[in-house]
Amino acid sequence: MAEKFNRATFTRNFLRNITRIKNPDEMLEQAKEGNLEKTLGVWDLIILGVGAIIGSGIFAVVGIAAAGDGAAQGAGPALVVSMVVAAIACIFSALCYSEFATMIPVAGGAYTYTFATLGEFAAWMVGWVLMLEYAIGFIAVACAWSNYLMQFLQLFENTLPAWIVHPPVWLTNDVFTVTKMLGENPDISVPMIFGVPICINIPAIAIVLLITAILVKGTKDSAKMAGLMVFIKLAVIFLFVFVGALSFAHVPPHWLPFNIHTFAPNGMAGIWSAAFLIFFAYIGFDALATAAEECKNPQKDLPIGIIGSLVVTTIVYVLVALVLTGMVDTTGNVPLEFLKAPMVYCMNIIHHPQLAKLISVGSLAGLTSVLLVLEMAATRILFAMSRDHFISKRFQKIHPKFKTPALLTWTVGILAVVGILTLNLNVAAELCNYGTFTSFIIVCVAVLILRHTDPNRERPFKVPFSPVTPALGILCCGGLMVYKSMESSSSALLFPVWLGVGAIIYILYGFIRNRDNENKLHRELVHGYTSENSESK
Ligand code: ALA
Repeated sequence: MAEKFNRATFTRNFLRNITRIKNPDEMLEQAKEGNLEKTLGVWDLIILGVGAIIGSGIFAVVGIAAAGDGAAQGAGPALVVSMVVAAIACIFSALCYSEFATMIPVAGGAYTYTFATLGEFAAWMVGWVLMLEYAIGFIAVACAWSNYLMQFLQLFENTLPAWIVHPPVWLTNDVFTVTKMLGENPDISVPMIFGVPICINIPAIAIVLLITAILVKGTKDSAKMAGLMVFIKLAVIFLFVFVGALSFAHVPPHWLPFNIHTFAPNGMAGIWSAAFLIFFAYIGFDALATAAEECKNPQKDLPIGIIGSLVVTTIVYVLVALVLTGMVDTTGNVPLEFLKAPMVYCMNIIHHPQLAKLISVGSLAGLTSVLLVLEMAATRILFAMSRDHFISKRFQKIHPKFKTPALLTWTVGILAVVGILTLNLNVAAELCNYGTFTSFIIVCVAVLILRHTDPNRERPFKVPFSPVTPALGILCCGGLMVYKSMESSSSALLFPVWLGVGAIIYILYGFIRNRDNENKLHRELVHGYTSENSESK
């Protein structure tokens, strides 16, 4: 006879299930069976970290952060203050990430930490939000890579064939950009279906497929490749700083902090606005925590990797900010070239066109290494989610030769290609910021919770001055997020939509899969039902 439906029991069970916490010891046991190869040492981690962080933020966004544009006020020479403010906001979260990464060194990063503290539903939502940071961020940077490539090729206007330097716009842009271009110039030739332009951003798709193939081939190879890219981008940045600094005949007068009108022309508003923008330039250090399972010595190496890469990046950014704002007085009208590629512009104004070309190469290298780490992080989170039955177990399959989750990596690569065909670069980048803020806040909250619920667990690295440090992390990231939400942007509307869709998928799919799995385990225990008898999901 069918059991009578009891609403109170149903609600109690439902709440118990969605707040089910996964024990960190169980996670560590599962990780041992995971078979991911442990190849990453401390230098690999710092390289991966710097590789993930230094990208379009410093090669492009920094121009708008200094000079401002229609939507945001610039910091002017006080950009250096904004850089430090954004770095401080990151360092609180970096310390919290380090505590977790050394305590639970398994794949998944913030997703895993949430499962250990806030339960099943919160973990699914964090995994879903992290897809904004890594997978949508991956799409955004791939589109930016395509823009940089076109900019780079245009430097060879007189040597390369016209079809390479000026290919049809629909083969190098997304549908939104092309629609805007058609609005300005309806004569551009673009194929259409039912009035919608057909756009295939070939450079972006090609770089996504290439990065995917490299990641499938192996984490160590990816780290080596990221190492080469990091070397190239750091070399060109230091060259820029050196040549730029030599071009100063004297200390630029607008630099001097005691003259607030020239040092910070838009006051604190400009400094905060630039700090928010430049926060994007620091995104990536958290990706290191997602590769914890592939570290040789995570307890010792991960905090050095996470904090070391953040410190290296902050020093590099501060130097760039000083030289850039010293070379260009951003208080007046600045040309579009400065906003798009500020370092390239600066080398051109002091008549170093060859260096400008080199910097373009460095920008491409910088973006390539960011792409590598973002895709790797996205796959490692999905790997952990598959282990927890949120998505199919097939994705846990490790390639017999390369020892990487090949099917999962290709799936992410192919989905990114679909994203490139449908998504707008700016919205993707802003959504990426929202995902990052949320995950940073959750990790700070999770540190506080686990200190309370599991105070005796061994913590090879402890956040100093807890609860003050995590609280400051929550405050800084929350403040930046609220600041952004007050601007009326499409990403501010899309973010809650993304959360809503995530919650619906959890109820209709993730929740049911987890309960099915629990029932299966129960049957195995009670009836000796073996996994061979059941279809693997
Ligand atoms: N920090 C990365 C960049 O600046 C996302 O491209």
